[in-house]
Amino acid sequence: MSTSTDGSQASAAGIYNYMLGGTENSAADRAAVAMLTSMFPSVRDVSRANRGFLLRAVREMANAGITQFLDLGSGLPVAPNVHDVAREIQPGARVVYVDNAPAVVAYNRATVDGPGVVTIAGDLTDPKSILDDPRVRATLDFDRPIGLITVAVLHFVPEDARPLLATLRGALAPGSYLALTHACSDTMPPEEAAAGLAIYQRTSNPVNLRTRAEIHDLFDGFEIQDPGVVLVADWRPVAGDIYPERAHESLGGLGRLLP
Ligand SMILES: C[S@@+](CC[C@H](N)C(=O)[O-])C[C@H]1O[C@@H](n2cnc3c(N)ncnc32)[C@H](O)[C@@H]1O
Repeated sequence: MSTSTDGSQASAAGIYNYMLGGTENSAADRAAVAMLTSMFPSVRDVSRANRGFLLRAVREMANAGITQFLDLGSGLPVAPNVHDVAREIQPGARVVYVDNAPAVVAYNRATVDGPGVVTIAGDLTDPKSILDDPRVRATLDFDRPIGLITVAVLHFVPEDARPLLATLRGALAPGSYLALTHACSDTMPPEEAAAGLAIYQRTSNPVNLRTRAEIHDLFDGFEIQDPGVVLVADWRPVAGDIYPERAHESLGGLGRLLP
């Protein structure tokens, strides 16, 4: 399958899925990965390190008592997914997956949706429509803490992301969390940034890098938890991680909404 309309254009979801070893990708996605890999042989590590952060952050939130998650820019499923990891710790955990790629939404619905797991079509640039969606409201209780996930998605949002996050934050109960990763122009070698930007420019998801300071600012209103906003592989690494790869392209962090 392809996540672009007719499969002729690579997409962020398909490229990422292929780099994680998934099967839900098109020839255009695989060609984009081949091009990236020819310039940067370690490029797969970028996706894998990011996915490792996501799963560790979900585990940490679940261990902190979070039983409901709103995953924005969820991408194609690659087991274990957010709901799998959350339910190892919180068996009744509920998860809403949101993506703006119609093919991602259709595939997720067919393969992962079930009791307490719902996928909706939604665009992060219109957070109010996500928050007002009746399926979101029916699945998540906004009077109780929620784990908000914006992992490897805000670099596909060209405009100032702070107002979007402020709208989302305003809907959350104290004790909620924000797990976030973002491609960083300060930590990526300039020649890699230039090549990556050029390749993604031809996909359905052009990339917009942010500086370390700009990524830090995305946590406005949240108390950043240890060890801070760091390279994703350096964020609470664990022995035996299924994604032990290191990469210097993305920063990640976990913030907690204080009362
Ligand atoms: C690189 S994947 C990340 C998947 C997952 N969050 C992870 O880190 O494992 C990025 C996903 O964000 C989606 N996306 C990009 N822009 C978006 C937007 N404005 N609103 C919602 N989803 C978006 C893409 O379709 C893609 O599936």
